[in-house]
Amino acid sequence: MNDLLLRALRGEDNPRRPLWIMRQAGRYLPEYRDLRKQHRFEELCASPELAAEVTLMPIERFDLDAAIIFADLMSPVAALGIDVRFDPGPVIDKPLRSAAAVRALNLPDAEEIAPEVPATLRLVKARLAGRAALIGFCGAPLSIAAYLVQGRGQKDFTALRALLREDPVAFGELLDTLAQLAARYGIEQHRAGADVLQIFDSWAGIFSLDDWERHIKPHVSALLDELGRAGVPRIFFANGAPHLSRSHANLPCEGLALCWRSSLGNLRHLLGPHTGSGMALQGNLDPAYLLAGPEATVRGTRELLASVPRRGHIVNLGHGISPEAPIESVQAMIDTVQAEAQESVGSPA
Ligand code: CP3
Repeated sequence: MNDLLLRALRGEDNPRRPLWIMRQAGRYLPEYRDLRKQHRFEELCASPELAAEVTLMPIERFDLDAAIIFADLMSPVAALGIDVRFDPGPVIDKPLRSAAAVRALNLPDAEEIAPEVPATLRLVKARLAGRAALIGFCGAPLSIAAYLVQGRGQKDFTALRALLREDPVAFGELLDTLAQLAARYGIEQHRAGADVLQIFDSWAGIFSLDDWERHIKPHVSALLDELGRAGVPRIFFANGAPHLSRSHANLPCEGLALCWRSSLGNLRHLLGPHTGSGMALQGNLDPAYLLAGPEATVRGTRELLASVPRRGHIVNLGHGISPEAPIESVQAMIDTVQAEAQESVGSPA
């Protein structure tokens, strides 16, 4: 039974730092690209059998400590009655632009929310047979709202920011609905076998600290509290938001994952050592190291390991792996993490 990830989240001493890679089930894998020649992305997500196969692809190839379920950030929104297509990222042809559109959303029952995802988790859980932890995921309310209001990915999400300025009440209602949707969906994933839930806040950084604390953080905290009450171990991932990391550091969750723009070492110092209560930190190698090749990857990974104490650290990239990343770089990252454990046999953690 591989419990490195759960042990790290609890701040327990580990023989080795756990390692998984954001977006590890995807286009940098030749076997994924082959399967994509026969099926559209939406078909892969809709079929528990195919989604389970993709989830396990990186586990069959590499020695990773967690599998993350293959789905999309937008998978749960169909249950709100909103159509999403992919080009290549999510596109909503009828974005929500008014208070009336926000208020017309109906909260679905847990079993109506992307039922293919819990079905996939059940298949994967059985096939993993304890080789690696199983991670479920959902989007943070803000990041889902960004797509729903903007209609597609955009650097600044001006339509979402305008909604906050125009109608903060409707903005709050939207985030509240999305937090409740994510809580139901996340708890259902835990029931279906997810050991841990990662909450992706891919667009975490688009507001100021003041706006985040006033208008967004309460919804994130409510979501995390609800998951916590249901006993779901939580990792919150904040992308592109170093100006918020001190505020993220007191969210109710077991793990905080930061993008490569932040210093995990500095944050660990600020929080103090993980002694069993407190937060584990996850990340945060710049994915560009992998593009620069195996040698650069070894160098970057060694620097990361030297900068963050082993206890309470989960090694990962600082954002999703690029489709162009060479397989050899992924292997080099894994080898470097394993070599550290070999080198330190007999010496204190
Ligand atoms: O391996 C894994 O991490 C599991 C699968 C996974 C996918 N999407 C599959 C996917 C996960 C965890 C996601 C989450 C996701 N989706 C996020 C949060 C993570 C992040 O990067 O911040 C976001 C923002 C999305 C939205 C999304 N979906 C985009 C922007 C795109 C297109 C470009 C891209 O990044 O790949 C997608 C499509 C998508 N989701 C693909 C995959 C494998 C590519 C589809 C294809 O095969 O063409």
